[in-house]
Amino acid sequence: MRLADVQAPAMPRFTTGIGEFDRVLGGGLVPGSLVLLGGSPGIGKSTLTASALGNLASERKVLYVTGEESPAQVKLRAERLGPAALNVPILAETDLDSVIATIEAGQPDVCVIDSVQTLYAPDLSGAPGSVGQVREVAGRLMRVAKQRDVATVLVGHVTKEGSLAGPRVLEHLVDCVLQFEGERERTYRTLRALKNRFGSTNEVGVFEMRGDGLAEVTDASARFVAEATRAPGSVVLAAMEGTRPMLVEVQALVAPTELVPPRRVANGVDRNRLALILAVLSRHGGLALGSSDVFVSLAGGVRVDEPGADLAIALALASAAKGMPLGADRPLAAFGEIGLTGELRPVAHHERRVSEAEKFGLAPVLAPGDGAPTLRQALRRALAAPAAAEAA
Ligand SMILES: Nc1ncnc2c1ncn2[C@@H]1O[C@H](COP(=O)(O)OP(=O)(O)OP(=O)(O)O)[C@@H](O)[C@H]1O
Ligand SMILES: [Mg+2]
Repeated sequence: MRLADVQAPAMPRFTTGIGEFDRVLGGGLVPGSLVLLGGSPGIGKSTLTASALGNLASERKVLYVTGEESPAQVKLRAERLGPAALNVPILAETDLDSVIATIEAGQPDVCVIDSVQTLYAPDLSGAPGSVGQVREVAGRLMRVAKQRDVATVLVGHVTKEGSLAGPRVLEHLVDCVLQFEGERERTYRTLRALKNRFGSTNEVGVFEMRGDGLAEVTDASARFVAEATRAPGSVVLAAMEGTRPMLVEVQALVAPTELVPPRRVANGVDRNRLALILAVLSRHGGLALGSSDVFVSLAGGVRVDEPGADLAIALALASAAKGMPLGADRPLAAFGEIGLTGELRPVAHHERRVSEAEKFGLAPVLAPGDGAPTLRQALRRALAAPAAAEAA
């Protein structure tokens, strides 16, 4: 059959009513698709899926299958989430045959399986959660999902190391793999798509866990800028989270050490990247921190894994080491990659980062190609600015 002759009616997506969730999915749940939602214990997988189903329940048929918690436990959570979540029909079952029979009888539009590791196929040996079982469970749920157009969300546990056999083996099978991450004790949690057959994998959703469930954080930049301290060692990084610019405060502390080798502690940034920046600072920036403990941290517990963070980290370190605040009456915003020879290298989405900083009154932004082709020149400019302002 020619592709042109294939019948492919445009299917409307199911919007979950959670903007950040929809955005990461690429505009909502696709009917008949299989989504794997992974994340470490207690991160909020059940909370996210329960409130999504609650929102969907007013217009669609939904089903929440819990193999993990009793109906009473799920109800307690739903009570926290508000009245909509209490309308969701629930099935407490771990037997795959019963679950599939219920889906076929009830024909829901959207179904959540919490979690895929707790279901088991009785005709298969092996404990629930073993590789064979998980694969069989997901395979059979997928067939039902495709045949009946049920958008199915499989919740899966992943340990920090990603070591649990379960969900990893499913990544090829499913249409979309979402990773819910964040430190449990921190406020902000991020939802990323690692794979998406119906959308970009660049999108990131930011959430905050509250008593009444997960709240979307759409104004992450505003919060992080408002929280910026402007003390020595503080710089605002104009980062990209997927296709969305985000301003985050980088904080550095430099203190004399009694340890050999000195401490290098990085929160939210890569340790190796920090080591590289320290080496370039010492070799090309005239700032040797070999006899100091160095701590770098991103405020709010966010994590940024992109080379664009280099310059902001270097400036925060220089400011902390010299005890000089950067930026006169407002925090200094910066971004850019640092090369091994001490040059500043351009990074993607230059304009979008600059305009995000401008939106929050942080212009001018210190960035590559901005009259500062090297790290040394950028340091000189940043450290000179407040002194000049004081003189004036
Ligand atoms: N009353 C409350 N107020 C604020 N936050 C709460 C409250 N109750 C629970 N939480 C938060 O919700 C989290 C648990 O959420 P949830 O059960 O959705 O996580 P999960 O990823 O499904 O966990 P599991 O791996 O156990 O299935 C807790 O770690 C806690 O941060
Ligand atoms: Mg759960």
